[in-house]
Amino acid sequence: MALVGTKKMFEMAYKNGYAVGAFNVNNMEITQGIVSAIAEAKAPLILQISRGARSYASMPYLKAIIDTAVAENPEIPIAMHLDHGDTFETCKQCVDDGFTSVMIDASSKSLEENIALTKEVVDYAHDHGVVVEAELGQLGGIEEDVVGISADDIHKHLTDPDEAIEFIERSGCDSLAVACGTSHGAYKFKVEPTLAFHVIEDISAKLKDYPLVMHGSSSVLKEFKDLINKYGGDMPDAMGVPEEAISKAAKMAVCKINIDTDLRMALTAKIRQVFSEKPREFDPRKYLGPGREAIKEMVKRKLELLGCVGKAGECA
Ligand code: G3H
Ligand code: 13P
Ligand code: ZN
Repeated sequence: MALVGTKKMFEMAYKNGYAVGAFNVNNMEITQGIVSAIAEAKAPLILQISRGARSYASMPYLKAIIDTAVAENPEIPIAMHLDHGDTFETCKQCVDDGFTSVMIDASSKSLEENIALTKEVVDYAHDHGVVVEAELGQLGGIEEDVVGISADDIHKHLTDPDEAIEFIERSGCDSLAVACGTSHGAYKFKVEPTLAFHVIEDISAKLKDYPLVMHGSSSVLKEFKDLINKYGGDMPDAMGVPEEAISKAAKMAVCKINIDTDLRMALTAKIRQVFSEKPREFDPRKYLGPGREAIKEMVKRKLELLGCVGKAGECA
């Protein structure tokens, strides 16, 4: 099977009450860890590439790695998605580079500017058979290439459900990332969060069968935080979205759940452990190999949570 778009995946996810995992890739080991978990679990997959990943690894390398994963797993539907595209030019370049799905994130602009830019991307992408994710409302947190609002302000920037309906109708986007209290990175909250599930409920009540996307969905699991801290890291105040909230969202209209930080933490914890226990180790295969295995285990855990294990066949 060649790379696929997300239309069928979202149709099935919506209908059957699960979500598809969208995992960020930056190199070969991360991709292999994700894909080996997916192959075992027989789950549909969205591999997403940020602008930071494009400049770190370069598109030809990433595309060759993903093409290899697709060729080796013909029974698994895999989409290649641009995460947080910020301009028309970036999205156009990704469509031209063979992405099957692109995100235009104009959420920091005014409603009118967001609609206009999203529509421009939709027109180009649809002409080339590519689906478009847009974002309305603002998420918090700061990643290398994705800037958000501060954790304290999250609830002031939730997606307005009425605006969301207008936005979807006028822009023509195929899925919408909503701000419902999540945020990017490892330091999402200072206290245990309550997500604004009413945002998801209100949009899905007004617009049936429309797929929503949840960004910033890492849980920052205590055991991985503890391992990082035990082996020389310093992340005591890291906090994520509780796993129960993620699985609740997956059963609702949320059809795509974005996870990057938890994979980074799994890889980092394992590499730190190897360095700490074997200070004379200098063969990259001896720490990247276990790191790749740690990513695989983390992804398997996520797939159970999202409810998409065994769903590859119906999404193909
Ligand atoms: O949402 C952002 C993703 O975690 C990607 O982060 O921009 O550092 O590659 P990045
Ligand atoms: P996390 O930082 O919570 O993993 O979110 C990743 C994300 O939303 C990528 O777009
Ligand atoms: Zn994101």
